[in-house]
Amino acid sequence: MITVRSFEEVRAASSGRIGLVPTMGALHDGHLRLLRTARAESDTVVVSVFVNPLQFGPDDDLDRYPRDLARDQGLAMEAGADILFAPEVVDMYPTDSHTHLTISKLTDNFEGAHRPGHFEGVALVVAKLLIGIRPTRAYFGRKDAQQLSVIRRLAIDLSLPVEIIGVSTVREPDGLALSSRNQFLGPDQRRAATALSRGLLAAASAVEDGERHGPHLEEIVAEEAGTEALLELEYVALADAATVQPLGELTTDAFLAVAARVGETRLIDNVAFSVDSDTVTVDRGELLSGPSVLEEA
Ligand code: PAJ
Repeated sequence: MITVRSFEEVRAASSGRIGLVPTMGALHDGHLRLLRTARAESDTVVVSVFVNPLQFGPDDDLDRYPRDLARDQGLAMEAGADILFAPEVVDMYPTDSHTHLTISKLTDNFEGAHRPGHFEGVALVVAKLLIGIRPTRAYFGRKDAQQLSVIRRLAIDLSLPVEIIGVSTVREPDGLALSSRNQFLGPDQRRAATALSRGLLAAASAVEDGERHGPHLEEIVAEEAGTEALLELEYVALADAATVQPLGELTTDAFLAVAARVGETRLIDNVAFSVDSDTVTVDRGELLSGPSVLEEA
């Protein structure tokens, strides 16, 4: 595996089917799952590690975002990456960008509403990565369901010749979705955080038992989250996966998303549903079986 800083170097070292996995580093088993999926389907696997300042708001955690390139290099190599693209901010943004990408409607709600400017920052950096690296496929986690919907739309609207692949959420054995932010949780907060996935998984089971009503599903999650005093719920919503608009009934591909604060730390999670006439398939994500890379480190 080589580590490079410029798009030119990435392109010079890439051939055949190129699989791109964009990340902000602090790699965990969720990222590694994206990498292994890309490895199985690509000739050249590129992982980008770039903490994108444009997607952080003034109150966000840009300064405390964990950075450890040497560790990320080891994990990416083990997971089968060929090229680690780790540009500095000046490499990615040599000049102030006067080009802004707004994905209207899909960013009005949920994360878009709580984090003004966030998706504009994500869209710009992802567009630059897709245009600069020209992957055959690019892999994104379903963990960030709204982000995945936004990126799918971006690729369609800009006619980018790339296939966007959504990969299931990786969870700790107790259900908590892996996130680089989990390390900020104290032991009591960590325990309280599991109420989010408990609620979502209960709602997923209700769907399998025939429940289709959005407000009922949202209520299941809110009730479970309400049992934990340390959790401050921001939103819980059933949303259309294509439009990211609230959905009253589960009649099309959708996700049931939740966001909450635990102290200073903001957590998001969801379960995804694909709907084919009367049949609903649930993607709850997958529980880690072995030890996580965080425990091994
Ligand atoms: P980051 O938070 O580092 O996540 C990189 C990718 O890993 C995203 O596609 C995210 O959805 C996925 N991911 C995170 N946790 C996951 C989990 N538990 N299971 C499965 N996949 C998971 O998302 C970003 O970075 C940035 O916004 C980025 C797309 C790189 C643009 O800067």
